[in-house]
Amino acid sequence: MADVLQVQDLNKIYDGKAIFQALTNITFNVEKGEFIGVMGPSGSGKTTLLNLISTIDRPTSGQVIVNGQEPHKLKKGKLAEFRRKELGFVFQDFNLLDTLTLEENIMLPLTLERVDSGEIDKKVQAITQKLGIDSILNKRTYEVSGGQKQRTAIARAIIHQPFLLLADEPTGNLDSKSSKDVMQTLQMINEKDKTTMLMVTHDPSAASYCDRVIFIKDGKLYNEVYKGTNQKVFFQQILDVLSMLGGDPDDLSTVRL
Ligand SMILES: Nc1ncnc2c1ncn2[C@@H]1O[C@H](COP(=O)(O)OP(=O)(O)O)[C@@H](O)[C@H]1O
Ligand SMILES: [Mg+2]
Repeated sequence: MADVLQVQDLNKIYDGKAIFQALTNITFNVEKGEFIGVMGPSGSGKTTLLNLISTIDRPTSGQVIVNGQEPHKLKKGKLAEFRRKELGFVFQDFNLLDTLTLEENIMLPLTLERVDSGEIDKKVQAITQKLGIDSILNKRTYEVSGGQKQRTAIARAIIHQPFLLLADEPTGNLDSKSSKDVMQTLQMINEKDKTTMLMVTHDPSAASYCDRVIFIKDGKLYNEVYKGTNQKVFFQQILDVLSMLGGDPDDLSTVRL
């Protein structure tokens, strides 16, 4: 299968008051339809990596190639278009607009692209039925649970059928039941739509829904583990790597069993 995301020799040096190398020679490839987890202790460079892939920030050196394109080489206008069309984002704090209904939140990316309203209705219906939120579309964010909010945010992130879905701690603000719902939702989208996904998480149970987990320590690739056929075995393997990794004990205090 073709690699649709290539990260090559990526380096990131923050040079503020002090110079700090946050990422060193990160190289990995992701195949079409793969669901990749990124784990590592606090401060290891996970968000930095995600920001470079999502083009929110620029690498000091190295390349990010998405579907044969190098987004960092695009001019501002083209880059904005690339982000809007090819990428979908899911965040820890949902990033929904409280003044809009859930439906209005979900259709926002299509509204911005001036998609025809009949077409929008069809897409919203299809996606929200699939995600089990079709009965709450007229509600506002403060009327629904965290899990429902995150499923709404996921619907918004995929309604324009992005090439790559990026998530930073999508279960970070959820209880264990909602986390499970959200991870099952992401897994279902990954399997049905073959959307390629990359998720940063410090939650081993969330990571066990991925096909592969990449571990980062001190800005360097440390290890990677592939899921075989058994999610429980994979979960245990993830825990084993995390315990070798050490780092912030808080990272493990949130383990949900
Ligand atoms: N804008 C920045 N300027 C300087 N240092 C930064 C900046 N952003 C992150 N860092 C540093 O880079 C390292 C990696 O940060 P980050 O990618 O946020 O880690 P993680 O998401 O794994 O917790 C940390 O030591 C952090 O303090
Ligand atoms: Mg982070």
